[in-house]
Amino acid sequence: MTNFLVTGGAGFIGANFIQYWLSRHSADSVVVLDALTYAGNLASLEPVLSSPRVVFVRGDIGTPGLAESLVRDHRLTVIIHFAAESHVDRSIAGPDPFLQTNVLGTHELLKAARLTSCGFHHISTDEVYGSLGPDDPPVTEESPYRPSSPYAASKAAADHLVRAYHRTYGLPITITNCSNNYGPYQFPEKLIPLAIVNALEGRPIPIYGDGQQVRDWLYVEDHCRALEQVLGTEPKGDTYNIGGRTTLTNLAAVRLLSMLIDEAFAADPGLSRRFPRSPAAQGRTASLITHVTDRPGHDRRYAMNAEKIENELGFRPAETFESGIRRTLTWYLAHEEWWRRVMDGSYREWMRAQYGSIVSF
Ligand code: NAD
Ligand code: TYD
Repeated sequence: MTNFLVTGGAGFIGANFIQYWLSRHSADSVVVLDALTYAGNLASLEPVLSSPRVVFVRGDIGTPGLAESLVRDHRLTVIIHFAAESHVDRSIAGPDPFLQTNVLGTHELLKAARLTSCGFHHISTDEVYGSLGPDDPPVTEESPYRPSSPYAASKAAADHLVRAYHRTYGLPITITNCSNNYGPYQFPEKLIPLAIVNALEGRPIPIYGDGQQVRDWLYVEDHCRALEQVLGTEPKGDTYNIGGRTTLTNLAAVRLLSMLIDEAFAADPGLSRRFPRSPAAQGRTASLITHVTDRPGHDRRYAMNAEKIENELGFRPAETFESGIRRTLTWYLAHEEWWRRVMDGSYREWMRAQYGSIVSF
């Protein structure tokens, strides 16, 4: 039986992870610590929120003493740290909260783990390695850090702190650096859910610059399985890269998505009644693709060498990009209420009515 502190559990990957974990580990329980920023939605935890195995605490990871008291009060043994400001474009517009949460907030959690002798798993990103040239080999766990954006730099700083706490104080830690995730419950500011929602609403699908930037796409459930494997190891300072074995240009990714949306509308005439502004009924989703001004400092190519987790722990992603996108699209079509509510903010009222007795707002 393990009791975890999961930070950022109301966000995209954290919520997927909690649902995944609880459905497979019936003796375990979690305390979720989440500030419920614009990116955190209790609606994403709805399937598990009333379970006696879940305690939700609204709070900032940077609050001194908060994580420590949660670990002590609930006798928690491992901190799994997802909480972050996670959107590159927001970090370019305003870096401060990124340093506050991703660096200083992570440090508060490390102090809590040290004081309570708790294990610590840190969720990080391939963006810390920076941009690759067209002929560079994929990055390994030994590749140098060359972050480009304030977001990536803040995650790199956090990774260094986590390793320093292991080297200096012997804190039992692991780190995973994963590639671009997509799947259910992703806030529609990231490329895939933004493209889906805009396609359904008949709005332009913005592609930065020439759209030839390469990303490695990882279906979120595959990420959760990889984390399960890593959390099953002794936390002795290891880092694992997690990739989806699918590198694609942004344009290719969005074109495939557009084709699958057209296909879904052709198979289900009810969709054109639900989404009358979408050109998908005419098989024309791709006509929404619109090139816009490039992101400043935009990394050209990411590619992960994930042989370590494959060889040591036997992890391989189960989904191809096409199968993962089909599952993602099916989820967004079935959960229109979720994405409309998180986008207009109205879910907060709804959750207050539903869960006001167990969560303080
Ligand atoms: P997200 O933005 O969807 O969710 C972040 C969550 O953290 C939200 O619930 C938010 O309310 C919470 N949060 C933010 N600041 C907080 C604070 N100060 N205190 C407490 N909670 C706070 O992010 P995500 O996409 O789920 O990413 C989770 C983790 O995975 C992050 O650490 C991110 O850097 C990393 N990551 C994400 C991706 C990706 O493709 N999404 C890829 C690689 C790594
Ligand atoms: P994003 O989903 O923001 O993730 P990240 O920046 O963490 O990789 O972006 C994925 C890629 O898609 C990235 O190269 C930027 C690009 N992109 C667009 O072309 N248009 C968009 O509207 C967005 C949000 C991203």
